[in-house]
Amino acid sequence: MGEKEEKEEKKLTDVPGIGPGTAAKLEAAGVYDLMGLAVLSPAALAEMAGVGEAVARKAIQAARKMMDLGFVDAAEFARRREDIAYITTGSKNLDELLGGKGIETKAITEVYGAFGSGKTQLALTLSVNVQLPKEKGGAEGKCVYIDTEGTFRPDRVKQIAQGIGANPEKVLKNILVARAFNSDHQILLLDKVGELIKEGEKIKLLVVDSLTAHFRAEFSGRGQLADRQQKLNRYLHNLMRAAEQHNIAIFVTNQVMANPAVMFGDPTTAIGGNVLGHASTYRIYVRRGKAGSRVAKMIDSPNLPENEAQFFLTEAGVRDEA
Ligand code: GTP
Ligand code: MG
Repeated sequence: MGEKEEKEEKKLTDVPGIGPGTAAKLEAAGVYDLMGLAVLSPAALAEMAGVGEAVARKAIQAARKMMDLGFVDAAEFARRREDIAYITTGSKNLDELLGGKGIETKAITEVYGAFGSGKTQLALTLSVNVQLPKEKGGAEGKCVYIDTEGTFRPDRVKQIAQGIGANPEKVLKNILVARAFNSDHQILLLDKVGELIKEGEKIKLLVVDSLTAHFRAEFSGRGQLADRQQKLNRYLHNLMRAAEQHNIAIFVTNQVMANPAVMFGDPTTAIGGNVLGHASTYRIYVRRGKAGSRVAKMIDSPNLPENEAQFFLTEAGVRDEA
């Protein structure tokens, strides 16, 4: 198990018996990677790809072999988690909700909530805090900020930087911003992030604000829901892969929609539904609380309880107190 984690991700066409034509058919059917292939039955693959079952069985076995589907011992598991870095949100309460130190690398943290709940303010605060030294709650890295709604505000970043006593101009230089004009552009920008990292940029945080707005606008018809979910699913998969490969934290925002099926409590659900629920490592729901506060609730996490935390949006960004 001494291998480096940075090994190149294998593609469908690396599997013996899967050429570009077959790969295209599989992709059209929603199978994008070795994992998707490895979990198919020979009959299902045979039908999707238009090949015989014997060929299909061989391809599946090859994919499973190439993937290393086995177990790792707990010591190896712990070693893989050793280099995880954390980024403080600026609020101790919120950091606690996230396990103590804020958001983490090799994970996707999703924040969803109504307009004005503070999603963008959180993203901006994180884009500053990622630059802090480790002992101050940062990851000593840069931020890539994918802005889909045109709400990135350099002036706000400056205020937040000043709030922690950092040089605003220097802080701005360490945030690489791109405006994504549609979902395809948004997806393409992720490849660009990989390139930047390969070129030596020390990126530790990727923000996508908002993750779902373009998808929602472009696939608005009833019949398009499945297509939208499939595309979103693929994008999320690639985000997670980038998080793990490059050891970066991914912070995405998401809107809510009214859910008429909910009769008690807060009748809102996140856009993207279960696709996102499964892909995000941590899901947080944010809403307005008493006296101008915001309340964050941990919705979904592999290891944390469903607690709530109160925080405030201040001129200096996210804080425990107003
Ligand atoms: P949408 O993107 O519209 O869905 O909303 P959002 O969740 O991204 O909301 P956002 O983070 O933009 O929050 C906006 C809120 O942040 C405002 O209503 C203010 O309450 C607060 N806010 C923004 N800037 C400042 C500031 O400089 N000082 C203070 N105290 N609060 C601010
Ligand atoms: Mg916003």
